[in-house]
Amino acid sequence: MADQATGTLERDASRRVALVTGGSRGIGRACARSLAREGFDIAIIYAGNREAAADCVQELSKLGATAKAYQCDVANSAQVNDTVKAIIADFGPVWALVNDAGINRDGLLARMKDEDFDAVIDVNLKGAFNMIRALSRNFVRLRGGRIISISSVVGLSGNAGQANYAASKAGLIGLTKAVAKELGHRGVTVNTVAPGFIKTDMTDKLPEKTVKAYQAQIPMNRLGSVDEVGDVVAFLVSDAASYITGEVIRVDGGLSM
Ligand code: NAI
Repeated sequence: MADQATGTLERDASRRVALVTGGSRGIGRACARSLAREGFDIAIIYAGNREAAADCVQELSKLGATAKAYQCDVANSAQVNDTVKAIIADFGPVWALVNDAGINRDGLLARMKDEDFDAVIDVNLKGAFNMIRALSRNFVRLRGGRIISISSVVGLSGNAGQANYAASKAGLIGLTKAVAKELGHRGVTVNTVAPGFIKTDMTDKLPEKTVKAYQAQIPMNRLGSVDEVGDVVAFLVSDAASYITGEVIRVDGGLSM
């Protein structure tokens, strides 16, 4: 692929580059893995767990990708700008951005603290905005590329006790559609993936009874896997999805229809 200039990392310049925030764990890691299998080199951004990030880099290398992890708080625009510069210096242009980094601070509305509302909006929504803005010139220069943000079915349907989280995830859908309109004529597609109930370390810790109760509400009668989300992201990044933009794809076993 001739659209990729080489950075300072030793790598095959014909391979495209994907940047995955929150790539060290869970769904983000599965996205990085699916993209590595599709032949991408991978930069991941993580919040703090250096060991998990190093482990992920090792896993991606075994899949044949050149991979590197960068510690960065996506809510901090100065850190994001510096990190994106470093990534482009190392890898060259970035073909795909996956905004996965996310947190939740659940609580009922009346008792929700300002700092809990702000922190969730800052990471989940402003973080994605910071990343997209920092990479916008990169995409304009490439005259192509992919931006995928991980929302949630909660952003479509709402959920009691998650006013901050639902607002941030609904906000991602508006952000996606605005940027899709702004960058469409540059050949950049911008989409959102909305996972439902996905099996992660967190759900593994829930009592079996609780999981069974959630499961009963899902038409497919099971939780999704992180790889089932990662593979949809890899599809949206692929050339096969070149005319899909501004879309929200639910990966929820039918939960929110
Ligand atoms: P996780 O907690 O396992 O991983 C979150 C990742 O985000 C980690 O790599 C962490 O380092 C990174 N991160 C958190 N705050 C950050 C910050 N300020 N700056 C940079 N990186 C930061 O989460 P999980 O379960 O894999 O979820 C990933 C995404 O998918 C989140 O956006 C979440 O809201 C969304 N999601 C998850 C669902 C689930 O069932 N697990 C369902 C629907 C959406």
